[in-house]
This record gives sequence, C-alpha cells and structure tokens, in this order.
Amino acid sequence: MIENKNIVLCVTGSIAAYKSIYLASSLVKENANVQVIMTEAALEFVGEASFSGITHNPVITGYYDRKSKLGIDHIDIAKKADLIVVAPATANSIAKIALGISSEPIVGTILASKAPVLIAPAMDGDMYNSTQVQNNLKVLENLSVKISGPEKGRLASGIEEFGRMTEPDKLLSEIEKIFSKKKDYNNIKAIVTAGGTIEEIDPVRFISNKSSGKMGIAIAEALRDRGAKVTLIHGNLSDNSIIGVEKISIKSAEDMTNEIQNRVNYFDLIIMSAAVADYKIKNKFNQKIKKEDISHLELERNPDILKSIDGSKIIKVGFAAETENLIENAKKKLSTKDCKLIVANDITLPGSGFGSDENKATLVHNKGCEDLPLMKKSELAHKILDKTKSFIK
Ligand SMILES: Cc1cc2nc3c(=O)[nH]c(=O)nc-3n(C[C@H](O)[C@H](O)[C@H](O)COP(=O)(O)O)c2cc1C
Repeated sequence: MIENKNIVLCVTGSIAAYKSIYLASSLVKENANVQVIMTEAALEFVGEASFSGITHNPVITGYYDRKSKLGIDHIDIAKKADLIVVAPATANSIAKIALGISSEPIVGTILASKAPVLIAPAMDGDMYNSTQVQNNLKVLENLSVKISGPEKGRLASGIEEFGRMTEPDKLLSEIEKIFSKKKDYNNIKAIVTAGGTIEEIDPVRFISNKSSGKMGIAIAEALRDRGAKVTLIHGNLSDNSIIGVEKISIKSAEDMTNEIQNRVNYFDLIIMSAAVADYKIKNKFNQKIKKEDISHLELERNPDILKSIDGSKIIKVGFAAETENLIENAKKKLSTKDCKLIVANDITLPGSGFGSDENKATLVHNKGCEDLPLMKKSELAHKILDKTKSFIK
C-alpha cells in the first residue's frame, strides 16, 4: 500500500528519536520513498547518517543548506509529499505546528503541504497532560491532523505514564491504513461495542470477564478506515488508544443498553463484539461487605441487548464466543436475535479468543457458514466487514 509513496518523516528532539530509525527502515522495506527532516534538537539524540544510510536520501536539518533539496526549493518536498509523519513529536514541535511557527523546516513543510499529517507525541507524562500540550493537540485534531498515542509505559524518567511514543510497528500499520483506498463504508453510521462489562457487587468488588476488547477495536478501526462514522461503546479495554472514532466508556450491561438505545435509531449498523455480562447482582451493596457476611450472591438477568434492538431498523451483527456446540449455538443466535451475521469463535482454540491478537472464526448467516482460518484480528475485522457489506443496501 505504501510502495512508491513519498513519506516525509520528521524527527524531533525526544529521547524516543531512536525508534524513528526503525520506522524509517520499515518504511523503506515497504518500498516507500522516505525523506527525513530533523530538528536541531533531534540531532542531539540520533545521527543524520543513520537516516541517510537507511533512506538513501540526504537528511534535511535546516532551511539554509544550499546542497539540500530544501535549500534549493523550500516547498518542493511539501508539494511532493503523500504523507507527513512527525515521530517523535516533542511538546515544542507540537506547539509550533499548532501555531504555524515555521522557523523549523518541519513546520514549513506541513504548512505548505496538502498531504495528511500523522503525529506521534512522545514526552514526560506530566508534560503530555499539561493544559498547553492538550490544547495544542486539540488544535491539531481540529485541523484533521491524525494523532497516534502516546501509549502508557515506562518513560525515560522511570515512571509509568502516558507519554511513550507509539511503537514503530503500530505506526507502520497506521500509515498503511491511511493509504488504504477501500472506502466502501462511506456514509455509514456504525455502533461497535467492545470489551467486558463490569457488574458491581459492592464499592470494591465486581464481576467481569476476560474480554480484552481487541476484536471490537479492530472492527472499529476497520470501519473507520473504510469511511464509516463510528461510535465505540466500550467496557474494559486492554488498549484504549484508538483514534478517529467517538468513544463512549461504560461500566455495566445496563449502561451499555442505555447508550445503545439512545442512539440506535440514528445508525445503520451495530456490531456487538462486547462481552456483556448476562447477570448482575440483584441488590448491589452500597458499603463494602465484610467477608464474614458473604454467604451467597443473588443474581438477576441483564437485558438481552442484541435481542432488544429492532432488526428491521438497523443491521445487526453479533458474536458467539463458545466453548462447545459452536455452530449450533451461533445459528440459534442468528435466528432468535434477528441478526444478519453471527461471528462464531471457539475461545478454547490455542492462539484464538480473549486477549489474543489472533482469532479463528466462522461467519454464520442465512446462506450458510464460512469457516475462516486463524488470522490477525485486524484481518478478521475486514473479512467481517466484507460480509456485512452484502447486507447493506
Ligand atoms: C534527555 C532529554 C530528553 C528529552 N526528551 C523529550 C521528549 O521526549 N519530549 C519532549 O517534548 N521534549 C524532550 N526533551 C526536550 C526537547 O529536546 C526540547 O524541548 C527541544 O527544544 C525540542 O526541540 P524540537 O521540538 O525542535 O526538536 C528532552 C530533552 C532532553 C535533554
């Protein structure tokens, strides 16, 4: 997808700059034409030679180098760019891009270009949370700049916080998605549910399940990339960094039901991949129960969300995560819940199901069953959308 694309990789002065060498190398391996621009501060962290050696292009470090492409025509690179990536993006460079302060070639190039811009912030957690950085990021979002991360993890300071630059492999896949041409979900409004719900027992204890939300996230990303307007209603997620979709966080099955019911009339499609608790505690305790006082818990059924949605008004896709009688249960769900498609997966299969990056599923619909091999959840998400598309008029 990125073969022969002109990608401008802008590297700024963060400790994460070393990751961009790997990113440059990955882009070159995919046959992209990579032009690196570095700030003066970036040169304190990584060498120009690493990038020029990998990309086979001279690195741009300033406006006034007569031997560089920019020294001869300062907007040439901007006009030819298919994508501009700023990774890592420091707080300083984020502010300059947001305000259009073009004292650095990176900002000048972004201002003079019509290419999409993707930035990967990297900084200390408190810096990232500061009002200034958050405001600047909002300005960039309003300018349709795509922002990836930052992720939570161990920072150079030794603390665990949000501030780590998105890993190069993830950035590469985000770059590939930007170039993905298939826009067959344009004008479709979709709700995706993901993650496990929580049913509180008392203020400290709850009942939940093993869902990581990865399958739902993959579906929301695939829909977004294919042009849909996506609302993601989610419980517990292992990674909440998805961008470009509306995110609504809920706790219980009841919360999820309410959020869906409020929207369902305005949407075309709902894909329910969340692991919704079937039962809740009948009388939730307002105070922490003493362990001596717990002898049993009384449960009551949660509403069946999928069943409660009118299938004549919206296309419904459900999931059946089973440990036995997979297809039989999925077929039953297809008819009793008035769904167009059930994605059935046996969660006991090795490498498949909860928490895994891969899944093996069977697509069950009214014309039969399609057994798919084990594949990445991101790939399976597209297969599900390919099938779902046939139900959308
Ligand atoms: C060791 C070290 C690590 C740094 N890491 C970061 C960082 O991760 N993010 C950041 O915003 N600034 C970081 N800085 C500060 C920037 O380098 C500084 O703000 C610089 O002016 C950024 O310039 P630039 O945006 O033009 O590259 C770091 C500074 C030092 C000395």
